[in-house]
Amino acid sequence: MLDRMKTLVLTVNARAPEADIIAQAAAVLRRGGLVAFPTETVYGLGANALDGEAVRRIFAAKERPSHDPLIVHLADVETLPLVARAIPPLARTLAARFWPGPLTLILPRGDAIPPEVTAGGETVAVRIPAHPVARALIRAAGVPVAAPSANRFGRVSPTDAAHVLADLNGRVDVILDGGPTPVGVESTVLSLIGPVPTILRPGGISREALTAVLGAVELGAGRPAEAVRLSPGTLSQHYAPRAALTLYRGADQALRRTLLAEAQRLSRAGERVGLLLADEDVPAFAEQPYVYLSVGPLADTDHVAQRLFAALRALDESGVTVILARDFGTQGLGLAIRDRLTRAAGGHVVEVTPL
Ligand code: TXA
Ligand code: MG
Repeated sequence: MLDRMKTLVLTVNARAPEADIIAQAAAVLRRGGLVAFPTETVYGLGANALDGEAVRRIFAAKERPSHDPLIVHLADVETLPLVARAIPPLARTLAARFWPGPLTLILPRGDAIPPEVTAGGETVAVRIPAHPVARALIRAAGVPVAAPSANRFGRVSPTDAAHVLADLNGRVDVILDGGPTPVGVESTVLSLIGPVPTILRPGGISREALTAVLGAVELGAGRPAEAVRLSPGTLSQHYAPRAALTLYRGADQALRRTLLAEAQRLSRAGERVGLLLADEDVPAFAEQPYVYLSVGPLADTDHVAQRLFAALRALDESGVTVILARDFGTQGLGLAIRDRLTRAAGGHVVEVTPL
């Protein structure tokens, strides 16, 4: 059983975090406690990465299986040698271009990192977040901070302090509330372990941006979206809202026709239908009796990513029993959006073919 603790929510200025509030949270981290804090991607659930017992508390609070390793967050690149045993020149190049920012690098694990962080593995995930609150907190704590997304295992990542509270109230010591997170999807996880840099999880740094620096980059050994499609259910508990979600891919007109027909059919079958749409879809649904949320224009995947997880949570809260979500392509953050929606759909992806 998990000991219930009292969760303290501290409001903090996202641009210029107050030193006394940061010091209070940093002291909790140094004592071995848990602090949820905003990063530019999503909220993280942090513990001292050098303290195996503190890190175990993260897994307990999230109910996360211990075989899933954590990302170590640093305040500056000077601390990288503490975390990673070897730092290939490519890591330096990527760090110079993308840190601080939403890129996580997989490197050989340094000795200071306890096995709890890496799930016993010989590699470690590391990034320097760009959010002023995250950076101030890590710097004040004076230790690397291990942090997964601050949601219950299997739930959508939190992009607002209210989401953290909904999932982890009574399970974390402090939540730093710095408002909504600007990127909205998790970091891109890039492995530098094999012969070719490989994206293990598409995220806040686009494939195009990485390709511009690396020349070529492999897409996923794990290839999560593909794995889910090929073997539905394997990752079906990931990033899932409560309502059953289906993802629809295809050309706009055919896509809208299919969404509408499906909404009608499911509604007749007694389901309460929610739709996750683009701004361009709204006229086709405005007069319909279904709950819908638009997450932004099709061409602006940054905007869509920023609103995606909050929209999934809001649809859940509206009491819908099924969610029909549209795809946003693969340009920019579209790839990360497709990955998260495919996981949320647990493999229920419909390819709409034009008539
Ligand atoms: O944006 C983010 O990445 C957020 C913020 C808080 O930094 N963090 C986050 O952490 O999304 P989490 O634990 O929810 O996801 C970390 C991902 C998981 O898919 C995990 O399997 C992978 O990174 N990962 C961690 N360590 C790894 C390793 N050594 N090798 C391969 N994958 C690893
Ligand atoms: Mg997560």
